[in-house]
Amino acid sequence: MISSKCINGFNGSPKIPGDKSISHRAIILPSISNGVCEINNILKSEDVLNTLNAFISMGVKIEQNEDKVIIYGKGLNSLKKPLKDIYLGNSGTSARLLTGVLSSQNFSSILTGDQSLSSRPMKRISEPLKKMGADIETTNGSMPLKINGSQLKNTEVEIIIPSAQIKSGVILAALNTRGQTNIYEHHISRDHTEIMLKSFGGEIDIKKESNLNKISINGKKELISKNIDVPSDLSSSAFFIVSALINEKSKIKLRNININPTRNGILIALEKMGAKINYINKRISNNEMVCDMEIESSNLNGCELDKDMAKLMIDEYPVLSIAASFANTPSIFRGLSELRVKESDRLDLIQKNLVRCGVDAKTVNDDLLINPNTKYEIKNNKIFTNYDHRIAMSFAVMGSKIGPLEIEDANSINTSFPSFINEFNNIGGKIT
Ligand code: S3P
Repeated sequence: MISSKCINGFNGSPKIPGDKSISHRAIILPSISNGVCEINNILKSEDVLNTLNAFISMGVKIEQNEDKVIIYGKGLNSLKKPLKDIYLGNSGTSARLLTGVLSSQNFSSILTGDQSLSSRPMKRISEPLKKMGADIETTNGSMPLKINGSQLKNTEVEIIIPSAQIKSGVILAALNTRGQTNIYEHHISRDHTEIMLKSFGGEIDIKKESNLNKISINGKKELISKNIDVPSDLSSSAFFIVSALINEKSKIKLRNININPTRNGILIALEKMGAKINYINKRISNNEMVCDMEIESSNLNGCELDKDMAKLMIDEYPVLSIAASFANTPSIFRGLSELRVKESDRLDLIQKNLVRCGVDAKTVNDDLLINPNTKYEIKNNKIFTNYDHRIAMSFAVMGSKIGPLEIEDANSINTSFPSFINEFNNIGGKIT
């Protein structure tokens, strides 16, 4: 795909699809709860459909129509052994969360994925689950995974890597495990699983214990489904927010955006840089914080972010780096090691592609340094994405300012935001 310069700024109100993290959970939890769950505004992207198809293959009745998904849940032990391997495409969230669900079932199963997912680390989820007695065979630490489901034992599990996927996988395993499982989390990570679980009547208790986040789950308690309205995705919004900020004559409005404080780092960072973002009508919906936002062209400064920010905005560094490339002063983003194990080595791809665009960008260990300029001379307008959706969309945003940029393998965008190009073009973008 080619992203060319935006001439008259970004203006209007793009429709941001449902939140990806919440959409995965909105399939998983109702599938193992009792009752009928109607889900509105669920994200229908490849990643989420992989989770949905996994539960259909395990015998869950799921109806899909234009704007709704309806799940008929039959409880914690209602899943059936799938007839074949479960293919999860590009989706790390599906892989880690399903590993948790499947490890405490009474059947064995095999999880597979595409080339990118098959090279991502899976011991980070299999090891904590093994503490509960799970029997999981990785392939050299990655997918395919063979999960020999069994009755797990309740115990104490420590989570050292900052990862909601790992935490959520362990919580899901604990739901079908007798007794109380205590999970000790060393770092903040998004808490959508805990929020939804509470509203389904799950016996979950969360407190601080000597600087750790202690999550206690009382397992083998049946859950009751509730209808879910999925709010719109802040990570997907970020591409539009940055497009409006860096392009002159822009003013956009976004509606019903999830601003859960465990993952709103991009907003904190952009405000620190001087972004004009106006929050309207902050409210709670399904126990998640949401709001509308108005964003306009802004004169940005650079900023220094330490490694604690990475936990609050890990998915947004690619697009934040684009914003930093048009700031008045340099930026340093520290402690981005987790970026190296996402859908691609994002740290490496951000730096290399920025350099192709003419930006003075360096990595020092796991820190990213961006020294912006007032005018860029493109060195090579081919952008390599390694089939990573967030790299593709971030450099589409870059193209709106300095394009044309030719972005390779951009159909990866379908994993998280199939309507991206349409929405981008509708408000002033020029993607062909
Ligand atoms: C996600 C958690 C994050 C994030 C991913 C979605 C989730 O991964 O990068 O896009 O839905 O739990 P980690 O928790 O592994 O950092």
